[in-house]
Amino acid sequence: DSVKKIALLGMGTVGSGVYEIIERQKVNMPDKIGCVLDIAKVLVRNKKKYENTVPAEKLTDQWSDIINDDSIDIVVEVMGGLEPARTYIKEALEKGKHVVTANKDLMATHGHELLDEAKIHGCDLLFEAAVAGGIPIIRPLKQCLVGNDISEVMGIINGTTNFILTKMTEEGMEFADALQLATDLGYAEADPTADIEGYDAGRKLAILASIAFHTPVTFDDVYTEGISKVTAKDIRYAHELGCEIKLLGIAKNTEDGIEVKVHPTMIPIDHPLASVKDSFNAVFVHGDAVGDTMFYGRGAGSLPTGSAVVGDIMDIARNMRFQCTGRIGCSCYKRIPIKEMKN
Ligand code: NAP
Ligand code: HSE
Repeated sequence: DSVKKIALLGMGTVGSGVYEIIERQKVNMPDKIGCVLDIAKVLVRNKKKYENTVPAEKLTDQWSDIINDDSIDIVVEVMGGLEPARTYIKEALEKGKHVVTANKDLMATHGHELLDEAKIHGCDLLFEAAVAGGIPIIRPLKQCLVGNDISEVMGIINGTTNFILTKMTEEGMEFADALQLATDLGYAEADPTADIEGYDAGRKLAILASIAFHTPVTFDDVYTEGISKVTAKDIRYAHELGCEIKLLGIAKNTEDGIEVKVHPTMIPIDHPLASVKDSFNAVFVHGDAVGDTMFYGRGAGSLPTGSAVVGDIMDIARNMRFQCTGRIGCSCYKRIPIKEMKN
C-alpha cells in the first residue's frame, strides 16, 4: 500500500518531464501523500531511442505488458493522438486502473465518453495538463469556482503561437524560424498545423467551455482561425494603433447559447493579455460571484506540463489511500444550446 505503481505511456517532451519530477520528488512523497510513486513501466514505439534514459526492465513497446499487469495502479497517457490512446485509456479504466492524460485532442473529442467510462468503473480520469500546460485551470473551474455562474472564459491558450507572435514582434524573426524554435523547445504539437491553425487552442477551449458551462462542448463546435495569415506588416499596423495581435480563445454563455471561437485579436497594449509573452498562457474567467479572475503561467514545455501531470498522479495516489477515488465526475450536465459558428 505504501507504493503506487505507474505505467507511463510515452517518454517524449511531457513523459520525460513527468519522469524527472517523480524522481526529484521521491524522498518527499511519503510526507506529501503518504506513499511512494514507482514508474514501473514505460511504453514507447522505438525502445532503442530510450536505452540511455530508461532502465531496460521498465521499457516496453507492448501495451499487453501494461494492461495485463494487475500491479499497475495508475496509467499516465502522454503519447498524444486519438488512437491508440483512446483504446488504451478505455481498457485501463475497464480494468479499474486510474488514468491521467495530457491529451487535449482526445479529451476534446472523446472526453465525455471517457469520463462516463471512468465513472462506471469508479476510477479517476484527470487531465489538468490538457489545458494551458502548467497552469492550474481545470481544477479551479471544476471545484473552486463551481459556486459561480460563469459567463466568460477567455485567453491565450496556445504557447507555440504566442511564442511565434512574440518572436515576430520583438525580434523581427521570420514565421518559419520562430516555429522551428518553438518545435525545438518542445512547445509544438507533433503536427504543428494544430497549433498554427488554432485547432489546439480550439480543443482546449472546448474542454474549458464544457467545464465552465456544464454542457458538453466538443472541438467541432468551435470556430477556429489560426495565425498562418498574420504578417509582419499586420503586427506593425497593430502597433501603430496601440495594439498587439494575440491568438485568443473566447467562450461565452450568451442569451442565444454558448459561443466558442479562436481567432487572432487586436488587444490594446495596456491590456494584461498584451504583456503575456513567449510560451506563457493566461486565462480570464468571469463568475457572477467572484468577478474577474486570471490564471497565468507556462502553457507548454516538459517540466511545466509535467508539473500538472504529476499533480494529478499525486492527487490520485492520495485519493487511493483514503479510498475516495472517482470523486471528480463530470457527467452531470445541463445542456445549453451551442451557437453554430461556421468555419
Ligand atoms: P512527443 O514529444 O512527441 O512524445 C510522444 C511519446 O509518446 C514518445 O515517447 C513516443 O515514443 C510515444 N508514443 C507515441 N505514440 C505511441 C504509440 N502508439 N505507442 C507507444 N508509444 C507512443 O509528445 P509530447 O510533446 O510529449 O506530447 C504528448 C501529449 O501531451 C500530447 O497529447 C500533447 O498534445 C500533450 N501536451 C504536450 C505539451 C507540450 O508542451 N509538449 C503540453 C501539454 C500537453 P517514440 O519516440 O518511440 O515514438
Ligand atoms: N502545443 C501546445 C502549445 C502544447 O503550444 O500550447 C501545450 O498544450
